[in-house]
Amino acid sequence: MRGGTSATLHEEESLGKAYDARLIRRIWPYLRPYRGQVFLALLILVLVAAAQLAQPYLIKIAIDEHITPGQLEGLAAVAGMFFIALLAEFLLRYAQFYVMERTGQNVVYDIRTAVFGHLQRLPAKFFDKNPVGRLMTRVTSDVEALNEAFTSGLVMILADLVKLVGIVAILLWMDWRMALITFAILPVMLVVTWQFRSRVRSAYRRVRGVVAKLNAFLQESVSGMRLVQLFGREKANAELFEGVNGEHLGAQLKGVRYDSSFSAVAEMIGSITLAAIVWAGGGRILQGSITFGTLVAFIDYAEKFFRPVQELSQRYTTMQAAMASAERLFKLLDTEPTIVTPDSPKSLPRPMRGRVGFDGVTFGYDPEQPVLHDVSFAIEPGQKIGVVGWTGSGKSTLIRLLTRLYDIQQGSITLDGVDVRELDLEELRRSVGVVLQDHFLFAGTLEYNVSLGDPRITPERVREAARAVRADRFVERLPKGWDEEVRERGSNFSMGERQLLSFARALAFDPAVLVLDEATASVDPETEHHIQEALETLMQGRTSIVIAHRLSTIRDADRILVLHQGQLVESGTHDELVEVQGGIYRTLHRLQTASVA
Ligand SMILES: Nc1ncnc2c1ncn2[C@@H]1O[C@H](COP(=O)(O)OP(=O)(O)OP(=O)(O)O)[C@@H](O)[C@H]1O
Ligand SMILES: [Mg+2]
Repeated sequence: MRGGTSATLHEEESLGKAYDARLIRRIWPYLRPYRGQVFLALLILVLVAAAQLAQPYLIKIAIDEHITPGQLEGLAAVAGMFFIALLAEFLLRYAQFYVMERTGQNVVYDIRTAVFGHLQRLPAKFFDKNPVGRLMTRVTSDVEALNEAFTSGLVMILADLVKLVGIVAILLWMDWRMALITFAILPVMLVVTWQFRSRVRSAYRRVRGVVAKLNAFLQESVSGMRLVQLFGREKANAELFEGVNGEHLGAQLKGVRYDSSFSAVAEMIGSITLAAIVWAGGGRILQGSITFGTLVAFIDYAEKFFRPVQELSQRYTTMQAAMASAERLFKLLDTEPTIVTPDSPKSLPRPMRGRVGFDGVTFGYDPEQPVLHDVSFAIEPGQKIGVVGWTGSGKSTLIRLLTRLYDIQQGSITLDGVDVRELDLEELRRSVGVVLQDHFLFAGTLEYNVSLGDPRITPERVREAARAVRADRFVERLPKGWDEEVRERGSNFSMGERQLLSFARALAFDPAVLVLDEATASVDPETEHHIQEALETLMQGRTSIVIAHRLSTIRDADRILVLHQGQLVESGTHDELVEVQGGIYRTLHRLQTASVA
């Protein structure tokens, strides 16, 4: 957990540019399908600015041409125009938000789909290196941050700029001398904003870091709650949590402190500027160089001018966070799926025979540290092969290589004489049925867990497969039968039940080669008997490789392979191997029969 947390923290720290043309160019293809809407949003925002900026000027007209000279005729028309401007602003703003959010959410949907699709094609090695939490952040908040870059970043910055340019032009046109007084405050405003904002920014960055830590801690504690309770770690855990939670409070309060003092200071600068405008403007009214209405409009414009300036730094932060998210997202999208179907795949002979060959296979998860050394064996069609060895000897690794979850570094693995790397990946994985060591179940119904939503697996086939492996008995006893919902990771089913379901799944897919990685957990003799029977059904008429922890499972195998520290050290039938003096199989056998006795 510690490692994960510090990695997340580190990620949060690495905020850089707020605008990166290279990244924007890469985001563009996702925006392109919606470019009509994007341009519409831009057009609307110009109109919003126009409706907004017309208002102070209408007030000026009302004061100068009607109220001051006492000319009430026509005042109603000006008021009407003011009302129309207000209404237009309201409606256009609504339209702008709607169009923008709609576009943004569509883009989010597309990017998320692309990222998830890409994730599904990445090799097992990638998932070994990247913690789940981090990948989840990619698909959820990083994509969302990208949306914000668009809706509250880029578009709003453009809107602000349009507004600012408009105000500057109007102010200079109305009275350039007073305009210059107004702008004189601008550098002060920018410096103060910048000073405060960079503090606020680093305070909130710290908050995000602590939140990541909080999440990691929570995730671990909640998923390990049973263990925590069994070992009486609640108090110690609560203390750890209080520590992180307190850190969060501290970081948050610091941000709030900066934030509130910034608001107060910005407000004060604004007021001082207004005072300066009133002071200078009052003088000029008395001199007769401007009208009262101009002064009122000026004050209004000045207020509209400062708000975007203050918000600019906020937008900067949004953009910065979005660029960092985009950087991470594209890095993920740029991760090449290394295990893919070759350009011109060879096909397997039909019908498949089910011959498996390992020839001089050397492999390491880290190429520097092989866990399999020069492993060679051949399995003839229809043969049943057992694989045994101490824990960590490389048994499960063999399966992962046959199904190309990882690619080997030396040697070759063949299926019916074709190198697995030359086959269509989908065809390979359809031909080799695997029952994994951990009987993972997905959220969904029991039926879904057997068919995995494959249209070829009909409900009849699910039931047939279940009957063959005798999984139907326990399913039928459930209140909802096949419609029973599976809870997270299958926690509402026992190990034995999950195993039988995995068997049903493998049988329903009817592979030519069956590979079974036996769970280490021991089951009661009755279940063991069921499983044994189910296995017989499963293996009938196909090449099978059974990694066994209980030697009884493979007693009648055609051949048993013994792995030791990644090397194939013994091979033969049960009867042959128990005779090998000092052999590993003999030792394993003696240990197991002794423990039973
Ligand atoms: N994803 C992985 N990344 C790095 N090393 C791994 C990975 N999976 C397994 N290993 C290492 O490879 C070696 C062989 O692992 P493997 O899972 O093949 O053992 P096994 O024989 O199936 O053990 P068990 O009987 O406990 O299931 C072990 O030393 C293990 O630590
Ligand atoms: Mg294993």
